Amino acid sequence: EVEMDQQLRPKLIDFHGVSMSKYFTDNWDDIQNFQARPDDVVIVTYPKAGTTWVSQILDLLYFGKTSPERQKTIPIYDRVPFLEIFIPSHPKGTELADQLTTSPRLIKTHLPVQFLPKSFWEQNCRIICVVRNAKDCAVSYYHFHRMNNIQPEPGDWSTFLKDFMDGKVVFGSWYDHVNSWLEKKETYSKLYVVFYEDLVEDSGRELDHLCSFLGLCPSPEEKESVLTKMTFENMKKDKMANYSTLTVMDQKVSPFMRKGKVGDWKNLFTVAQNEEFDEDYKEKMKNSTIKFRTEL
Ligand code: A3P
Repeated sequence: EVEMDQQLRPKLIDFHGVSMSKYFTDNWDDIQNFQARPDDVVIVTYPKAGTTWVSQILDLLYFGKTSPERQKTIPIYDRVPFLEIFIPSHPKGTELADQLTTSPRLIKTHLPVQFLPKSFWEQNCRIICVVRNAKDCAVSYYHFHRMNNIQPEPGDWSTFLKDFMDGKVVFGSWYDHVNSWLEKKETYSKLYVVFYEDLVEDSGRELDHLCSFLGLCPSPEEKESVLTKMTFENMKKDKMANYSTLTVMDQKVSPFMRKGKVGDWKNLFTVAQNEEFDEDYKEKMKNSTIKFRTEL
């Protein structure tokens, strides 16, 4: 803990053109040489897009029936290892993933497309990319910075928003991340995209789509059970899903399971910030056909 204390609030570094922090680059060789297995399922997101939500959903779909004790006793970050994380006195994400004996392995990453270990492509793994509108992502990421001491200091909201728009946050530009992952869909058929907004709007429908991508056929009872366990309210009070077991996060500052809504950005963006954001967004996304919903 002492060692950790000295390293909180890391600096942002420029890593091959992407803003990162050392906690996600210090283990780079192991990450790049990571050996995928053909049945691995990768959950890839820009931070705050709904990574934990989809991780929990997949864990329930694959193991909820066969080993229900898993969700009750093992924290989500051990069930679904975070590939690139490497913080002192904690096991590396790559080690946790290597040690998984369950099949398939569920592996989480925030890496931009050009950094994904090549083994996942070679093994033709299924990849689920969760995306969320930029405004809600920015707000959620801001609160996450405030409460999570392994993120750089966010400054105040207007400073953070500017950094977000400039891509000067950990894992780089939302715009580049989302655009390059979505482009990959055109050439890699085992990439499936889920919108956070769609999941909020109709979880049952999205669960069916996910299952058909994964080749799973849960019974109506199993599906009902997943739908109950994946709600915001249930995940918020679930110690194995809400990150309350991690000391680097101060949930008194802001809970990890914060609001779980579409459109919360309206509570933080000023009218002027919103106008500036929209104008900049149009420019940065001008080559994209993708439409995000910022309200339901
Ligand atoms: P908010 O901060 O807007 O509440 P990630 O897991 O990628 O870090 O994303 C975290 C965001 O997903 C948080 O958003 C969190 O509340 C939301 N989230 C987590 N579980 C959820 C659920 N079951 N339903 C809706 N939103 C959820």
